[in-house]
Amino acid sequence: MSGGLKLYVKTYGCQMNVYDSERMAEALAPRGYVTVASMDEADLIVLNTCHIREKAVEKVYSELGRLKEIKDLRAEVGQAPVVAVAGCVAQAEGSEILARAPVVDMVVGPQSYHRLPELLDRLAATGKAVIETEFPEDDKFRHLPPRTAPRAQQNVRQNAQNPARNARQNLQNHSASAFLTVQEGCDKFCTFCVVPYTRGAEYGRPVLDLVEEARALVGRGVREITLLGQNVNAYKGTGPDGRPWSLARLLARLSEIAGVERLRYTTSHPRDMSADLIAAHATLDKLMPYLHLPFQSGSDRILAAMNRKHTAKEYLSLARRIREVRPDIALSTDIIVGFPGETEADFEATLEMVRTVGFAQAYSFKFSARPGTPAATMDGQLSETVKSDRLQQLQQLMNEQQISFNHAFVGKILPVLFDKPGRRTGQLIGRSPYLQSVHAEGPGEWLGRILEVEIAGAGPNSLSGVIKASQRADIGAGA
Ligand code: SAH
Ligand code: SF4
Ligand code: F3S
Repeated sequence: MSGGLKLYVKTYGCQMNVYDSERMAEALAPRGYVTVASMDEADLIVLNTCHIREKAVEKVYSELGRLKEIKDLRAEVGQAPVVAVAGCVAQAEGSEILARAPVVDMVVGPQSYHRLPELLDRLAATGKAVIETEFPEDDKFRHLPPRTAPRAQQNVRQNAQNPARNARQNLQNHSASAFLTVQEGCDKFCTFCVVPYTRGAEYGRPVLDLVEEARALVGRGVREITLLGQNVNAYKGTGPDGRPWSLARLLARLSEIAGVERLRYTTSHPRDMSADLIAAHATLDKLMPYLHLPFQSGSDRILAAMNRKHTAKEYLSLARRIREVRPDIALSTDIIVGFPGETEADFEATLEMVRTVGFAQAYSFKFSARPGTPAATMDGQLSETVKSDRLQQLQQLMNEQQISFNHAFVGKILPVLFDKPGRRTGQLIGRSPYLQSVHAEGPGEWLGRILEVEIAGAGPNSLSGVIKASQRADIGAGA
């Protein structure tokens, strides 16, 4: 097949979209598409979108506005790119996207990425916009190309004029840390959330498919794998024995693979934090001491209105049980402020929850009314001012907690997996077991290694330190 077609994918939203974008590039590679870093030169532009909050959707439409200009200009010289909208906005809005943004040629939902080549053919044959937002019966993962070829060779074209960009792309494409989607969809139906509508019902991929994919990732130099799912700890997938396996069993199986050195999983729901999964944090050495466990609100009244299926007390007792088996675990969370009907007292309960648990990291959001969700039409919608004020108070508290969590590591030694070059030459960025971003000086060849770092400085969002001299000697000796 002919080469030379250029693909540009822009990713919005959660890590599952990051994973999907990679798989889309791989699905298009056999058609000769290579990934390029700028949309100006692309033949196919894919926006992989997010529908979670209104702001996320607005970003997509403003990007489509800019794209129209690019497309019109290039149409004048007969090189109009194909514009595709994928992801959760595609799934949620379907043909409405075409009405609002006629620049779009294709709308493709998250369950149909394996059909991208065929959809492009349909577009070329008919010249009419293509919309594909079904939830097909077939498992898209089984129809996507297997993940064997190294990413760099598969879809990054080397650019002789720009060696700096080549280096950046190669590093990106050889990242030592990778995502692996093990579960999709959500059956929880929190009243504020669009995910059950955009991603459909829960589905867990078969264990052996995941073992095979993890092995392929290791073959590409990956040493850390983060298992992904909208509700990842509800994972149930068919095991090699034909029976349903839990996430804990899957983690144990993946940790047997030589070359997999670190495992993580995200995002978990408090209700699905089963005893075997908690125990895995004590027994699996490769499972990193970090857990993202959203609590959303500290008020039982609001939690009930959110349909979260847990109380504040249950969350606290869960956090305690996890810390009993893994005392050093870093907990992170998601919080919504300004849910309909939230009073000052409800909000205070949220702040209290943060103070009591002590989080290493938190993502906080102003409630955004999403069309079609029950919370959007509930009584007691709050003003922007109240929401912004509460968000600011919460973020200030969180900032203090993040600083104190990070400061406790100054003077200690942490094993860091370096997987990105820093902004400055000679700087490397990696992750600690607790998912802190760690900056240190070192040559590019050290990327992809786990090295011990003596932590010298700490801020709210990162640590800095010095790679231990003894290890530098090891590296110098070719270890
Ligand atoms: N499956 C994950 C969350 C997916 S969405 C979970 O259940 O934890 C990520 C976060 O976005 C949520 O945890 C929630 O805090 C936030 N979120 C979702 N819908 C929202 C809305 N309508 N307004 C504001 N924040 C929202
Ligand atoms: Fe959304 Fe709730 Fe499902 Fe998370 S658990 S994806 S917040 S419905
Ligand atoms: Fe957004 Fe869809 Fe992820 S709505 S958060 S991209 S599942």
